[in-house]
Amino acid sequence: MSQAKIHERGQSMVEQVLADAARPAMIDIRSVGKAYGNYTALNGIDMEIRQGEFFSLVGPSGCGKTTLLKIIGGFEQATAGRLLIGGEDMGGTPAYRRPTNMVFQSYALFPHMNIRKNVGYGMRKSRLPAAEKARIVDDALALVKMSDFADRLPGQLSGGQKQRIALARAIVCKPKVLLLDEPLGALDKRLREEMQFELKSLQRRLGITFVCVTHDQEEAMSMSDRIAVMSAGRLLQIDTPDNLYERPVSRGVADFVGSMNFFDVKLRERHDNGSRLTLAGGIVVETVNRGEGTVLALRPEWLRLSAEPPAPSVNTMTCTLTERSYLGGRNVYLVQTGASDRPVSVMAQQTHSPTALLQPGERLWLSWAPEAGVLLPS
Ligand SMILES: Nc1ncnc2c1ncn2[C@@H]1O[C@H](COP(=O)(O)OP(=O)(O)OP(=O)(O)O)[C@@H](O)[C@H]1O
Ligand SMILES: [Mg+2]
Repeated sequence: MSQAKIHERGQSMVEQVLADAARPAMIDIRSVGKAYGNYTALNGIDMEIRQGEFFSLVGPSGCGKTTLLKIIGGFEQATAGRLLIGGEDMGGTPAYRRPTNMVFQSYALFPHMNIRKNVGYGMRKSRLPAAEKARIVDDALALVKMSDFADRLPGQLSGGQKQRIALARAIVCKPKVLLLDEPLGALDKRLREEMQFELKSLQRRLGITFVCVTHDQEEAMSMSDRIAVMSAGRLLQIDTPDNLYERPVSRGVADFVGSMNFFDVKLRERHDNGSRLTLAGGIVVETVNRGEGTVLALRPEWLRLSAEPPAPSVNTMTCTLTERSYLGGRNVYLVQTGASDRPVSVMAQQTHSPTALLQPGERLWLSWAPEAGVLLPS
């Protein structure tokens, strides 16, 4: 490739990154609140969902995910704040006039209509010629790989097949935004994983904005461009999957996205390259200055266990192995340390090294790199 071509390609990549950042907000949620009588289901939610983005809402049961999705779709009215879709204020716009379509967790297929009629239902009032409508239905069925099932009734399909039909039905009207509430909730683990890829690739091919609710954080991580973590009606953090994992801003997020070990920091002394932290039991460790707060957070896979003192001997403490569970290719060890009352969880890949044979009761060394931890508010 010529220098000019390389330069051109680099230039166009830069332009793409800039274009992504400048992509207009498809959905603009401004200080949205929802009260049911005295109960506050949503409190001051602010978020912008970009055009063409795969965006997920995650959080524990009852935190307000479905409520927010219904407000976007027009099935519930916010009691505070504003909602704009494509730059237009949606106050007073009923669900059927919004450029959105919602796939409900229950799929809500009509049991007495065959699959073809179910999928075409949203076009029943459209003035398109019948042949054109049939073509759109066929295309949608082909997209979800369900063409062979067009004449069956919903009761004659499996959960995963019904889920695809619900998707096909939602896309025939070409919504700008697809709202999905726990779309894979009824599926077993294996089918779920398969459908995660299918959903993501469908979203790419259609190029429409997906807003997906799930209580499964791993699922959200695997599919989404960005994720909003919610708790008790509030927004905790919006970020890309890797930033949420590597740089959570609070314990709530760290705990919800993967598992995390927390150590209280008794004393922090800053120096040129980071900080020296004193933990409980007078244990002193080093960390880079990542995050802010008085709790040191460490992911189980950032930690190492060894039978001998590790060299160099920074960020290390002795511990006792209390439990081990084998997860197929990986081991999770629980160890008791002097730096915390709670057991510390360590994830290790199964190897043929002696670590793989660690047994409960053994005295070991726990260690990690100074770059591994993140500081969080308590
Ligand atoms: N119509 C209603 N009247 C009163 N309270 C409601 C109503 N709908 C939802 N709530 C309450 O609002 C809160 C948020 O509900 P929502 O359905 O949004 O939770 P969620 O995050 O979707 O939970 P899950 O993961 O269990 O589906 C819950 O405490 C729920 O009980
Ligand atoms: Mg819900």
